[in-house]
Amino acid sequence: MSILGEEKITMELLHREGLARIGRFNTPHGRIDTPNIMPVINPNIRTLPMETMKKMGMQCLITNSYIIRRTPELKEKVLRDGLHSVVGFDGPIMTDSGTFQSYVYGDVEFQNTDTVKFQVDIGSDISTILDIFTTPDHTFEEASNAVYETRRRMDEVSGIAESANIAGPIQGSIYPDLRRESAILMSRSQASYLPIGGVVPLLEQYRYSELVDIILTSKINSDFARPVHLFGGGHPMFMGMAVLLGVDMFDSASYVKYAKDDRLLFPEGTRDLKEIVEIPIWSPLHDRFTATELKSLKDEERKKALAEHNLFAIYMELGEIRERIREQTLWQYVEGKARSHPSLMNAFRRIMDYSHVIEKYTELYRKSPFFYFDSLSSLSPYGRRIEKIRESGGNYVKIHPRYCLPAGLDQKFIRRIYEHSDRNFMFPLGEIMVPAEMDESYPVQQSIVSERIPGSYHGDEFEVDEESARSRYFPLEKIRFLADVQFGRGSGKALFPDGVIIDISRNTGRIRTVRNGEGIIATMRAHDGYLALTMTGGEIIRRLHGGIRNRVRVTEESATFNSVGKSVFFQFIVECDPDIIPYNDVLVVDQGDNLVAVGRALASGREMSEYRKGTAVVINHHVRNN
Ligand code: GUN
Repeated sequence: MSILGEEKITMELLHREGLARIGRFNTPHGRIDTPNIMPVINPNIRTLPMETMKKMGMQCLITNSYIIRRTPELKEKVLRDGLHSVVGFDGPIMTDSGTFQSYVYGDVEFQNTDTVKFQVDIGSDISTILDIFTTPDHTFEEASNAVYETRRRMDEVSGIAESANIAGPIQGSIYPDLRRESAILMSRSQASYLPIGGVVPLLEQYRYSELVDIILTSKINSDFARPVHLFGGGHPMFMGMAVLLGVDMFDSASYVKYAKDDRLLFPEGTRDLKEIVEIPIWSPLHDRFTATELKSLKDEERKKALAEHNLFAIYMELGEIRERIREQTLWQYVEGKARSHPSLMNAFRRIMDYSHVIEKYTELYRKSPFFYFDSLSSLSPYGRRIEKIRESGGNYVKIHPRYCLPAGLDQKFIRRIYEHSDRNFMFPLGEIMVPAEMDESYPVQQSIVSERIPGSYHGDEFEVDEESARSRYFPLEKIRFLADVQFGRGSGKALFPDGVIIDISRNTGRIRTVRNGEGIIATMRAHDGYLALTMTGGEIIRRLHGGIRNRVRVTEESATFNSVGKSVFFQFIVECDPDIIPYNDVLVVDQGDNLVAVGRALASGREMSEYRKGTAVVINHHVRNN
């Protein structure tokens, strides 16, 4: 328990898209909804009135304990009246330590332990240790020493601040191995908040590609229950990409810094005031000034006006990013936005090198269609997932373009070729080659493609003897294939042995349910073209693969609730399959491995074992009635 009786910070997951998340966490002075930004406030210089910032939706802010402590009157006042009263804000306030000042101006006069103690004493909601800033030009050895010294400083404050929220910066310069090490070390420490530090020079130099390496490596090796903050990362141009890579929080001094330099922030970059002819209609300045009037304002007044515009631009972009996650279109937003600057495009290409990593956190399906723009889209996590599925199936024959209809595979192909053959067939979705059995499944049916069958695509001519007896039945092959994808190889044959009854809709021609003598085993979901298990189906899967695939084992208390249909919460998960894909069906079992329910996972296996708050599985079927 911390000073005001709140628990330590822990992330609650609300919406997701791959590594991007909308979540929330509590601090002693209230909740923060993520992704969010902490504007930097200089306690000596109030550029914008608190009311103006609150009106933009400011929920939290960051200030610098070093600056406060160096100013005797201010120091005395915060120690007497508390930080929140002096700043004039009763929401969450984070404090930084002076690390950045020591990077810019050389050594600072304070030590780590007294720096943290001061922050805790004045009532900071998140206090930061005096970490060692690693610059991009550090040698590996220098950066490595900084990582271990920073970790030592975390240990050093454990006695002072057991109950407080401490930010443990992840350092390591541009070396992914060090970022990994630092993220792991910090996640094993008492730090409840994880900023990625030492990135300001890279942000200033548009070195976004290296930032992709740093952010992804830091994120993947951090505890998912702790918010990840990008120190100094609040430029609207890069925020969407950072959130896509798992960043939850930003801070920004740039709204004032740019204002001082007569520069304006826009969603896709920065402009000089002197070049501006029109103030955009969305700007809070639009109704107050013409561009000419703005240029002729006195220095102080102009700075305030530009700072207001800049902060507004940041909040506007954050709102867009959050909305994009809710509709699950952030990926395509970032993909489009990458075209606005070659450095961003380079960084977006770099993300593709990590598609196999992001794929593990990528939902089985999304609310919104998959947009296929060009060959880069084929390297996306969904492209990689399909490639992975295909790789496990051996050799594939390319279906001739004449059988690849926009609405799916031509029935003639299925009856004449597929069902008289035992080969694997694939068809194009842009440049993604998709196994024939996935023609109804996400992202295929739910895609919008710039060129569904590329001009360069040539199918394989493949003759079969149509007079021969039919050797297989497409609907049965399809459900077996999907079961293998969703529940592990061998699941298809076990769930759907020869003789199962497949109900097909007369209206749509689509598979609806699959039954055996005991009842329904699975249904095919209309919205994503994947299988949903019943308890009968779940029991069959539970007996396969040593009982571990798609399994979520919960406490006895939770099992009692889940067995009557109530959701599984993260904190009651005892153990789970690490390979669970978000939105896939999972088996909820009790401590004795008895199946109590089947439902839809809201998180990946990795996340299930790390989050401690929120809903993990929504139950679809359960053993007992209420
Ligand atoms: N502000 C910007 N970068 C950093 C950093 O690396 N550490 C701390 N403590 N503050 C920062």
